[in-house]
Parts: sequence; structure tokens; C-alpha cells
Amino acid sequence: MKIPQWYPFPMRRWLLPLLGLSLLPLSACDPGSSPEAEKKIVIAPAPATTNPLYPIPYAPPAVKMGAPKAGAVTATTQNKLLGRGVNLGNSLDAPNEGDWGPMIEPWMFEVAAKAGFDSIRLPVRWSTHALEKAPYTIDKAFFARVDWAIAHALSRNLTLVLDVHHYVELFKFPAENHDRFMALWKQIAEHYANYPAGLYFEILNEPNGAIQAEWNKYVIETMAIIRKSNPGRTVVIGGNEFNKWYKLADVTFPPGDKNIIATFHYYRPFCLTHQQPVTWEVGCRAAKDTANVVNSDVAKTWPVLFPDSKDPKADAKLQQDGIAKDLADAAAWSKETGIPLYMGEFGVRGKPEYGHENLTPPKDSVRGAWAGYLVQQAEKNGISWAYWDLAADFYAWDTTTMAWSEPLIEGLIPGYKPSTSTPAPTGSAATQ
Ligand code: BGC
Repeated sequence: MKIPQWYPFPMRRWLLPLLGLSLLPLSACDPGSSPEAEKKIVIAPAPATTNPLYPIPYAPPAVKMGAPKAGAVTATTQNKLLGRGVNLGNSLDAPNEGDWGPMIEPWMFEVAAKAGFDSIRLPVRWSTHALEKAPYTIDKAFFARVDWAIAHALSRNLTLVLDVHHYVELFKFPAENHDRFMALWKQIAEHYANYPAGLYFEILNEPNGAIQAEWNKYVIETMAIIRKSNPGRTVVIGGNEFNKWYKLADVTFPPGDKNIIATFHYYRPFCLTHQQPVTWEVGCRAAKDTANVVNSDVAKTWPVLFPDSKDPKADAKLQQDGIAKDLADAAAWSKETGIPLYMGEFGVRGKPEYGHENLTPPKDSVRGAWAGYLVQQAEKNGISWAYWDLAADFYAWDTTTMAWSEPLIEGLIPGYKPSTSTPAPTGSAATQ
């Protein structure tokens, strides 16, 4: 099975054979209805992928249930709680977890919390785990797997954003998938209705393709469904063109709803962040290049995309000013509308795209400098953020060394010194 050519992301690759759901070692667990009830998520034994270096118990600690009442939280306060975050990308958003790389493991939450991250964004591809036909029931074992991940985050005081990710058929054929999308949200919203205020919903990752013409209708309709069972839940909503900040102005946010955070994704310059289909240096160069700039001192720590430049430093500044302007423009929109902003994705590939293994991604010093500058600008403008991704292709955590990439973590969480301050992971057993 191959992701079709029209697929928008630079992620076309051979997919691994579908993992049978029987491989997911989980048991379903309903959120329960009594408010304030303690929820112990019951999970079957750990999968073989649990890392012995980080023997965190596979079962998450209990999560205190209790839904926020309508009006109990405001989006501004909730956005502060998002603060600094990281995406657990390429896991539950793959057709089946494991197809695109990492299985989610307990140590991921642990290292993120220890480093000082405030939140996790959990991309989830519900559409490959639900019936194709009405009533479009979501697989129980899959729900349990998502419950498990949410519990690992919330129990460590990590706020969690749960989205609907990669519903590619909906982008292409909105009319045919409309009812199914709404049915998915009804089930998700009802399933998590009793969860605490630290769980946020994000209605759809990166609208693109045919759905864009109708996006505002989808926003209003989905919000009506969510609000029925979750009157007090914080919801994240973005705009068209893969969540561009300049498309937020076109979104019709549900009038009067004060519990909404707007989101955008930032991957500029794309030739740096995605290096497709060439190395970032070549992709970002003009035709007549003098290799000097790429090899200059500036380029070791910052992408210089003006190779004919006589002054790499000045051009690096131009790039930084461009980023600063984009984020200031986004923040101006937020100020005008009163809707707080979340930069839910940004990142630079650290591994070449599947099928392009001969390509060389930028050095971590460049990736870290770009990410660090971006988060400075975001924070200056009151924008919360989540780096894409923790441990997959755009990694901040390097699974080959099982440690943070130092330039990345220093850029994202300034002052955190992984070499000296990474504590020994806690927990005594890999399985319960
Ligand atoms: C997509 C990922 C992709 C990332 C960077 C995300 O929104 O879901 O598949 O790797 O953006 O392009």
C-alpha cells in the first residue's frame, strides 16, 4: 500500500503491513460518569518496544476526572497552560501506530515533563480506526490506546491537545465524508466528556484541498456537536492552507464562544524545514550559487537562503526579520480578535524523507537555531507552541542516542542542560 501521489505531505512512503489491532495490548475503559472520580486506566502488558533504559511503568497513573463547567476556564488562561509543547508526531497519526516510526512509549511523556515542556499535542488518525459505514463506530481498542496516552500526559501535568489528523479522504471528498467526520467527533467528544480541563480538542489538522471552500460550515457544525457534551472544554481551531496564520482572518469562529484557541503552523522557509526533494542547501539556493554562504560561519548556525549574497550576516538577519514579522502579524490578528494563539506545529527535518535517504538534512545547530529563534518570537508575542516532533523525522529527542539533541532542546527550552540535568527516569518496572 502506498500513500497516493496527490498526498500533500512530504511523507509518501511504503507503508508497513497493517498491524492487526490485536497487537495493541490494550483494554477499553470508559471515562466513567461520576465527576471527580479517579480513573485508573487498565492496560494489558507492555509491548515489546518498551525501552529498558527508561523503565517507566507502562500503565499510566490515575487521572482525576471532572469536566470543566461552561465558563469555568478562559481561553487566555488555557493558552498559558499550553505554553511550551511538543508533538508526538508520526505515531497515532500514521495509518497504524508504528507504520511511520515510533510507537508511543511512557518515557516520552517523562522526558518531556522533566525537560520543562508544559504540553503535548497528540495527532490521531481516527479515520483508519472507525467503521466506514454508519454508525462509524470507533474501535474500542484504539480508544483505549488514546486514553492511555492522554493519561500519561495529564498525570504528569502535561496539558494535552487531541486532534483529528490526516483525514485525507475528507480533504478530497468532503461531501462523502461529512457525516462520518461529524460522527467521529460526536463519539470522541462524548468519550472524553468527563475528562479534566487539561484535555483540549482540536477539530481538524491542516484543512487543505476541497474542504477549504466549506471550512467555516464545518467549524460551526463540529463546534455545535462538541459543545453538546463538552460545554466547558477548550477547543483549538485553525484556518485553511494547512493552518496558515494569514488564513485565520477567514475563519468564522463560533460567535460568543470564549473557550477557543486559534492555531497556525509555521514551516518557513519550506526548503529548509522539509528539504524536498533535494538537500536543504540546494533546495534553498538560487541557480547561480557560490557555495561560500552555505559554508560560512553564519550558515553553520542559521539557514542562509541567499547564496549570491555578499553579506550572509545581513541576509540571516533578513530571514529572522521575516519570521518576526509573520509572528507579529499573527499576534496582531489575535489582539484584534481577542482569540489567543497557538503555534501547534513548526520544525525542521532531522532525518531525510523516506525514499530520499541520500539527502542530507541541516545540522542540528541550524535546526536548533531556527527553532529557538521562532519560539523566542512566539513567546514575545504571547503565542504558545508545540514543536513537531519529539522522536520521529523532525526529532528533538534523538532515538539513536536516547537523549535530547542538544541544539534543539537548548533552542526550545533555554537553560535546560540535558547533559547535566537529565534526571534518571523514574519508575521501577516496565510492566505492571
Ligand atoms: C503532518 C506530518 C508532517 C508534518 C511536517 C504535519 O501536520 O501531519 O505528517 O510530517 O506536518 O510536514
